[in-house]
Amino acid sequence: MTILVTGSAGFIGANFVLDWLAAHDEKVISLDKLTYAGNRQNLASLEGDARHLFVQGDIGDDALVAKLLAEHQPRAILNFAAESHVDRSIHGPEDFIQTNIVGTFRLLEAVRAYWNALPEADKQAFRFLHVSTDEVYGSLSPTDPAFKESNKYEPNSPYSASKAASDHLVRAYHHTYGLPVLTTNCSNNYGPYHFPEKLIPLIIHNALAGKPLPIYGDGQQIRDWLYVKDHCSAIRRVLEAGQLGETYNVGGWNEKANIDVVHTLCDILDQEQPRADGRSYREQITFVKDRPGHDRRYAIDASRLERELGWKPAETFETGIRKTVRWYLDNQAWVNNVTSGAYREWVGKQYA
Ligand code: NAD
Ligand code: TYD
Repeated sequence: MTILVTGSAGFIGANFVLDWLAAHDEKVISLDKLTYAGNRQNLASLEGDARHLFVQGDIGDDALVAKLLAEHQPRAILNFAAESHVDRSIHGPEDFIQTNIVGTFRLLEAVRAYWNALPEADKQAFRFLHVSTDEVYGSLSPTDPAFKESNKYEPNSPYSASKAASDHLVRAYHHTYGLPVLTTNCSNNYGPYHFPEKLIPLIIHNALAGKPLPIYGDGQQIRDWLYVKDHCSAIRRVLEAGQLGETYNVGGWNEKANIDVVHTLCDILDQEQPRADGRSYREQITFVKDRPGHDRRYAIDASRLERELGWKPAETFETGIRKTVRWYLDNQAWVNNVTSGAYREWVGKQYA
């Protein structure tokens, strides 16, 4: 048995593959383009593991995908590959359209051809799981109920609009062609291997480097945070038992304002790695210009996943965030590696 995982050198994809191979004796084909966000080092512990094959390539390269499918005959495909950073989508939306929309479309076409030719039993058992975001639902007011699967799509950034388009394509391939698809819409993840362009790893990295901790606007924007390994366990559960054609919201029941997340990070760092001058990392907090079109609040109602499939997160925000800070303190070589070169150009442009 084999699964194919796209975007597996990125943050969530890498955690997924590492967790999968720690628990299953099933071959994994990794397909990743290795953009700035993809890092072979994330999968370094799998070097020499015969159950893992890494292929550098684009989900939009239908000839390559068709070849991989024919050669390895996967029973499932998990699509993590995407351009994923909202701020980058504001500076340059084109790559988001190309990978998240056109790439997903080409992948679906290659998968449809492969699936159509499978023997009936394999056809029934096959799954295409598309990993998406809660950002497709838009922004909530402080009193709105959390996003349910039935909320209408109201994406506000080029990133979320491109993810919404990919979700619609996946849905259409089920309704039109019968492709056995599943979609998950998850809230903000955090944990090991998170690229330090996103809030939590950026704050940890800047704090330790003695740099300003940039808070957009008033810092009162709210996100729901989920430890990445809980997202991976939810995806495994949906793959195993999800109803075909359905979508599942995944969340941590952890709504936090950005400024509170940053205060928590500073307080943990004050304990774990105090500043040389004995002062708090909170002194590095700097309010900067807000993100254009910044969504005010995301909150996710994951009760369907809990009720129908029995999934619950294992970590609270308090336990997960401590583990995350510890991971960054213990993995400074990884951080140094990913923050060289192109990363500096991005930081220069975004925080100038
Ligand atoms: P990431 O940016 O860390 O990783 C994306 C990976 O995809 C990288 O390894 C990159 O090289 C690869 N990739 C990009 N374009 C590709 C292409 N055309 N072909 C093949 N590979 C390509 O992203 P992430 O945070 O790991 O997110 C993974 C998925 O989960 C995305 O689909 C994202 O929308 C979704 N998601 C992320 C979050 C979050 O908080 N990070 C929350 C909910 C959903
Ligand atoms: P981010 O990690 O980029 O995830 P997303 O935009 O997908 O939710 O940002 C999380 C929140 O943190 C978001 O409200 C924007 C805010 N933010 C800052 O205040 N400063 C920063 O430097 C970054 C990167 C994000």
